Amino acid sequence: MWNRAPPGPPTRGDKSHLPGALREDRGRPTSVIAIVGAQFGDEAKGKITDYLAAQARYVVRSGGGPNAGHSIHLTDGQAVLHQLSVGVLRRETVGISGPGMVINPLQLEEEIRDLKSRHLLKGEIMISERAHAILPLHSLEDRWEEGVRAKVSPATAVGTTGRGIGPAYADRYGRWGIRFAELVRPHLLAQRLDLLYATKAHLADLPAKSELLAELSASAGRLASYVRATEPVLWGAIARGESILIEGAQSALLDVDYGTYPYVTSSHPTSVGALLGTGIPPQELDEVIGVAKAYATRVGAGPFPTEVGGEMGEYLQREGKERGATTGRPRRCGWLDMVLLRYAARLNGFSALAITKADVLGGLEEIPVAVAYDTPGGERLTDYPPALAEDLEKVRPVYRNFPAWPEFTERLKERVRREGVHALPAELRGLLAFITAETGIPVEWLSYGPMRDETLWLGRGGTAPAHGGLPPWSP
Ligand code: IMP
Repeated sequence: MWNRAPPGPPTRGDKSHLPGALREDRGRPTSVIAIVGAQFGDEAKGKITDYLAAQARYVVRSGGGPNAGHSIHLTDGQAVLHQLSVGVLRRETVGISGPGMVINPLQLEEEIRDLKSRHLLKGEIMISERAHAILPLHSLEDRWEEGVRAKVSPATAVGTTGRGIGPAYADRYGRWGIRFAELVRPHLLAQRLDLLYATKAHLADLPAKSELLAELSASAGRLASYVRATEPVLWGAIARGESILIEGAQSALLDVDYGTYPYVTSSHPTSVGALLGTGIPPQELDEVIGVAKAYATRVGAGPFPTEVGGEMGEYLQREGKERGATTGRPRRCGWLDMVLLRYAARLNGFSALAITKADVLGGLEEIPVAVAYDTPGGERLTDYPPALAEDLEKVRPVYRNFPAWPEFTERLKERVRREGVHALPAELRGLLAFITAETGIPVEWLSYGPMRDETLWLGRGGTAPAHGGLPPWSP
């Protein structure tokens, strides 16, 4: 029983009620940072992770699988990572595909082969033994499930990536999934495959079990040296004060519990999911960086209150190169939505925000930002979206228009690279200050182009340093 007198409510900024690592006076360098998507995915999390990875010893993916596509623009080519962490692109860095993931071993091999052949694989790869395997039958089942939904009503189809993500997570919770630990043990693989096949009688055109077993066994043999108990590796790193980045995939509004259900993915792309998917305990998490575009996009079906169609939608799609890195599908485009951003900030406990793709809006006449929703019932919502997709479809966003900044020419980019925040257009700084004031979370990062060096650190708390530079969090 608790016998302490209940403390009064904490005052704003007072963190003394928080456990050890979250306190500012914790007296040790920041060690663990999680990067979390604050919208519907595709916020350029991969780019921000890659930028911070320059100072990290470990970069670990916590959830999802080949539904993700983290594009990194390098001077010597573009890398799109689906199941590997962006850490593998850096020398001296370990890229971990963590326990919370679902991983297709056959596609993983392809991804490794591709990076190797282009000499882009520079770090070390580790695959968690607890990650679950996605098999070809899961993609079949993904299509079968979408067919069932569409048959009942076209509106219920989720528009999944078709990569077998949902069925693989369903099998994980059904306790007939196959983990990488079993995949690399031939007798267990055969047993688990028998069980899994027994649950798939509803699927036509299943590959012959014996053929699949042979294919998986061969693949497992080639991947076995990467398969590890990854949690102790991370715990050891924490004990030594080494820096760990948790690379979020998908995003808060696609979370199976807190997103726009049922138009969501099947994992937990939130800060809590980042812990669950890596085995890092909560008190070790020092920072959560939320990543949001200066506008918004969504792929697949589901409510999107600030969606814009017509010429403006096409303009954003074209200028932002808004096509899915995994499926090539055009992304739906719209304006920044502060209701969803405030919600994501609370849900994830962001300690900082990164705003990306600011260059895409340069040169527009004005930039609308949704600051609230009006419901058909006459309510005004500011920070909590309705749980029912049907209700979220019906809200009317209340917009505030911001003056747009000039186009991000090469000359302007060069000035920002040289002079940092002082070279940023005043209109853009105004919008960043607004986002900070409205969410209570400092915008500490700005991305203004796809290249690695088109990223600016705005200083701790978003208070601009004299010039751009790297953050002081490396141990
Ligand atoms: P699934 O994750 O393939 O099951 O797809 C479920 C929903 O999440 C669909 O609307 C997908 O388009 C969306 N989704 C899944 N992964 C991503 C991503 O990495 N970026 C954006 N949307 C995603």
